[in-house]
Amino acid sequence: MSVERILDPRLRDRIVSAEQAAAFIQPGETVAMSGFTGSGYPKAVPLALAQRIEQVHEQGLPFQIKLLTGASTAPELDGALAKADGIAMRMPFQSDPDARKRINEGKLDYIDIHLSHVAQHVWFGFYGDIDTAVIEVSAIREDGALVPSTSVGNNKTWLDLAKKVIIEVNEWQPEGIEGMHDIYYGTALPPHRKPIPLIHANDRIGQTTLNVDPDKIVAVVRTNGPDRNSPFKPIDDESKLIAGHLIEFFKHEIGKGRLPPNLLPLQSGVGNIPNAVLAGLAESGLRGLTSFTEVIQDGMLDLLKSGVLEYASCTGFALSPEANETFKRDIAFYRERIIMRTQEISNHPELVRRLGCIGMNGMLEVDLYGNVNSTHVMGSRIMNGIGGSGDFTRNGFLSTFLSPSTAKNGAISSIVPMVSHVDHTEHDVAIIVTEQGLADLRGLPPRARARVVIDNCAHPDFRDQLNDYFDRACRDSYGKHTPHLLPEALSWHQRYIDTGSMKA
Ligand code: COA
Repeated sequence: MSVERILDPRLRDRIVSAEQAAAFIQPGETVAMSGFTGSGYPKAVPLALAQRIEQVHEQGLPFQIKLLTGASTAPELDGALAKADGIAMRMPFQSDPDARKRINEGKLDYIDIHLSHVAQHVWFGFYGDIDTAVIEVSAIREDGALVPSTSVGNNKTWLDLAKKVIIEVNEWQPEGIEGMHDIYYGTALPPHRKPIPLIHANDRIGQTTLNVDPDKIVAVVRTNGPDRNSPFKPIDDESKLIAGHLIEFFKHEIGKGRLPPNLLPLQSGVGNIPNAVLAGLAESGLRGLTSFTEVIQDGMLDLLKSGVLEYASCTGFALSPEANETFKRDIAFYRERIIMRTQEISNHPELVRRLGCIGMNGMLEVDLYGNVNSTHVMGSRIMNGIGGSGDFTRNGFLSTFLSPSTAKNGAISSIVPMVSHVDHTEHDVAIIVTEQGLADLRGLPPRARARVVIDNCAHPDFRDQLNDYFDRACRDSYGKHTPHLLPEALSWHQRYIDTGSMKA
């Protein structure tokens, strides 16, 4: 393999194998890695580290690390290290089945925080020292500047704070990605913070490369492997209905003059339903849309291609293998229309509020009053994590939550009397959409919210049961402001655990 992407001569003699690089990581270290939803994560060193951890465990010795990233990664990182029992603590977002299993067995500590908080909490010292950073890049320039790859995440922070740095240079990443990034070095610790000078979602406020002190780089590893994301499911009728309700609502808001004709910058969560909304927008007749979001998935590339979306700002990609090929082939086109930022900027509350973003996120369940649970099945089993949904829900112009009205073949109602875990409170949630319809909670007091959630969003199989609960709560509740029957409020969840169904 050539070394043509490693142009800094000082670093060429630090090129080693993944196994040699992994040997720099010691048991008990806090290791910060690149990666954001299956893009831009290191492909070789985590696998080599997992192998080494397994060998050490075979000798009866302990070896675990604390692992920080941008967000979820892929089987070669989270999966391999979780399977090797190599992670003592994981932060922030993950979605790996093996890691999830270990978390829910109580064997892996998981700290699920807002994505916009990660960098600053590490700067504040809440997570101690960063011992090693392992960062994927697409190239190293002559002066040592790093050209990021398909995600930026927290890489700036990891490179600034880590005591030692391992760089993976991935030749699979398109060379044409250079110039797409915008790395802002103006953030500071309180009380010396200044306004971030970003007024439009496509403003450039930083530089195209990442800085690193070359003396900290202990190893450079060459790789040639693809980013890995699951293909999207074909868009089903339920998702189409959800997308249709939301787009109809957007048009209604344009008609009322509450949204401009090209909407406001869109944030789209990951998953099949947000992807269906993007597909729906392609056929909506709306034009001149913009996006200030975390992740660009297939639907957003299509919107850019068709000209419906003018530009998008993100911190990473979540593309199917086919969309990855399109992206790489047409990179010159996308480089003009996509800006990749650090995640402290892509999710920054100041910017989300200033731009007036429209948040579109998935949920597990919502209660009668608009409290949303995005993360914990039956209150105690983690699914993925809060990700950036809270950054946009709390600070955006409009927060929307999208979900089928039932789960597990109709055994679970996504509309429940009381959510079993709260990620987004009734104070922040504006719009709920299921295939049944849309509930607009803005300006409504709690009891009116309950009526509109039941009438518009609940599945007919659960509507009578919800009305029965709510009517009795209105009659018998301790207080009538937000009526609840406390012994019954979480009984639906217990019934599911006991019988496999929430149906009474
Ligand atoms: N109770 C129990 N399980 C439920 C449920 C509920 N109320 N609602 C959904 N599920 C299950 C589904 O059955 C499915 O299980 P399976 O994987 O065993 O089939 C799983 O949750 C995923 O649900 P699905 O309907 O496929 O939706 P999704 O892929 O759109 O994911 C979330 C929904 C909530 C899990 C996802 O949106 C998420 O992780 N959100 C939080 C993070 C976030 O918002 N990120 C965006 C910004 S970074």
